[in-house]
Amino acid sequence: MTGFLVWFTGLPGAGKTTLSQLLAGELTQQFMRTEVLDGDVIRDRLSKGLGFGRRDRDENIRRIAFVAELLTRHDIHVIVAAVSPYRAVRNEVRSAHPGRFIEVFVDCPKDVLIARDPKGLYRKALAGEIQQFTGVSDPYEPPLNPEIHVHTDEQSPAATVQSIVEWLSRNGFLNGVAAALDGRS
Ligand SMILES: Nc1ncnc2c1ncn2[C@@H]1O[C@H](COP(=O)(O)OP(=O)(O)O)[C@@H](O)[C@H]1O
Ligand SMILES: [Mg+2]
Repeated sequence: MTGFLVWFTGLPGAGKTTLSQLLAGELTQQFMRTEVLDGDVIRDRLSKGLGFGRRDRDENIRRIAFVAELLTRHDIHVIVAAVSPYRAVRNEVRSAHPGRFIEVFVDCPKDVLIARDPKGLYRKALAGEIQQFTGVSDPYEPPLNPEIHVHTDEQSPAATVQSIVEWLSRNGFLNGVAAALDGRS
């Protein structure tokens, strides 16, 4: 069997990294082999030197997708947390993983993101100290038809992940081992 690919897309600070870590914890508890590919880590390693123009952003996504493909081929479930602002390249990845690509739109209003600003990046971007910052000075194309759409201004991280786990379960992506073991199923 081939692994699935959960792809978190959304503006900086929306909650992609937080949710990917929590989801990985949940899947691991269910004895599912899981790997997280986080955009920030990838940019520091595999995509070091790439910029933030469209061409480099798309290249970054294609590199992540390539690694994801290698892993899912070996029955490892992959969770990607990356802004991935352009719809076309996200759809390209979707086409490469038919029936196994689960796009999660991590949605949050911009005023909440600016108030949250855990890394102080919005403040810098709004002050013009960072260029090409998604949502401020660079485009973000929201998914038109994501498998899952979460609103992180309305729910806690734990509740949000629970709704994602429930979606995966309803759609037959979970093996149910942990649920069967502790009688939750
Ligand atoms: N429902 C939620 N899901 C995810 N993060 C949330 C949620 N509600 C509040 N947060 C907070 O929002 C911030 C999201 O930051 P992070 O996960 O680094 O975002 P991203 O990876 O999308 O840039 C964290 O401080 C997190 O605690
Ligand atoms: Mg992040």
